[in-house]
Amino acid sequence: MQKIHAAITAVGGYVPDYVMTNKELETIVDTTDEWITTRTGIKERRILKGEGKGSSDLAVGALEDLFRKRPELKKEDIDLLICATTTPDFQFPATANVITDKFGLVNAFGYDVNAACSGFLFALNTGAQFIETGRYKKVIVVGVDKMSSILNYEDRTTCIIFGDGGGCVLLEPNTEDLGIIDSVLKSDGAGRAHLHQKAGGSVKPATVETVMNREHFVYQEGQTVFKFAVKNMADVAAQIMERNGLTSDNVAWLVPHQANKRIIAATSERMGLPESKVMLNIERYGNTTNGTLPLCLWEYEKQLHKGDNIVLAAFGGGFTWGATYIKWAYDTK
Ligand code: UT7
Repeated sequence: MQKIHAAITAVGGYVPDYVMTNKELETIVDTTDEWITTRTGIKERRILKGEGKGSSDLAVGALEDLFRKRPELKKEDIDLLICATTTPDFQFPATANVITDKFGLVNAFGYDVNAACSGFLFALNTGAQFIETGRYKKVIVVGVDKMSSILNYEDRTTCIIFGDGGGCVLLEPNTEDLGIIDSVLKSDGAGRAHLHQKAGGSVKPATVETVMNREHFVYQEGQTVFKFAVKNMADVAAQIMERNGLTSDNVAWLVPHQANKRIIAATSERMGLPESKVMLNIERYGNTTNGTLPLCLWEYEKQLHKGDNIVLAAFGGGFTWGATYIKWAYDTK
């Protein structure tokens, strides 16, 4: 029997309208457009405005986009929706459940995956297992974050980095050896000290003090995270290339997590890839956490061809990191 691979067969993306430029940030914290651009590569990011709007609303935008492109797809045919997010709508229930309800995926079950910035990669591999067993035919994986909801706009070291947005992919069975071929996924909980949110969980529930002390925001020791990210993202990317016989010539694209342009450059250099083979959106969207990888696929979809070798790589809080090798399954008309 031929092996069933899980192939991405459609992509959707969504970013909110509001553009927060580096110039605007100059009026909020002690920073400059020049510092942000040279240290991170970011020029602007999108912010979701509006009372009562959460990550699920960004996800619904991405799903609407995906279904627009695949008019024959029926909402009732979706079996499962996995949502990778670090900024869920609520502590519970899962944002996946909110999304399936808002979008009308009446037959889909859903749950969330939290692996910080590597969440989409982890969720993609989780979703792939349901397809590879032959048990399910249509799985949607969402990567989405409303990072502005956990940013301290008095902390110039974190608020300049992140933005809001997200995307989604449809996974379907493929028996032509196209789709998700291999992955290296890693985590090391010792890294949690360097990138986390201090309060709001069961260890430190919300109190007046935790709010006053601004403990519900992203806490990051930037330099330490930077060092781990550079080494680990490049290591797993090199590993996935080596064990699959991939070279700088036969890899069509690197799809890297968009945390810092310098981290991306270190990974692509280690893989021997020129910048022309590296997907980038950090300049316009900043670090959208779980949103970066699907948003890259969304924007570059038309440049992808059936049979292309592409490598996705990510690093994030936890620490979590990984790389996935995909043989792209379709041409976009
Ligand atoms: O996506 C999840 C994983 N996250 C990452 O991968 C992020 C990894 N880290 C980074 O990308 C970088 O460490 C940052 C972008 C967060 C910071 O860049 P850096 O080059 O590591 O800067 P730094 O923390 O070493 O700070 C250098 C200087 C400091 O000033 P002094 O001590 O040299 O006087 C900072 O206070 O830059 C200062 N600084 C700023 N100056 C202007 C820090 N933030 C800013 C700012 N504007 N926004």
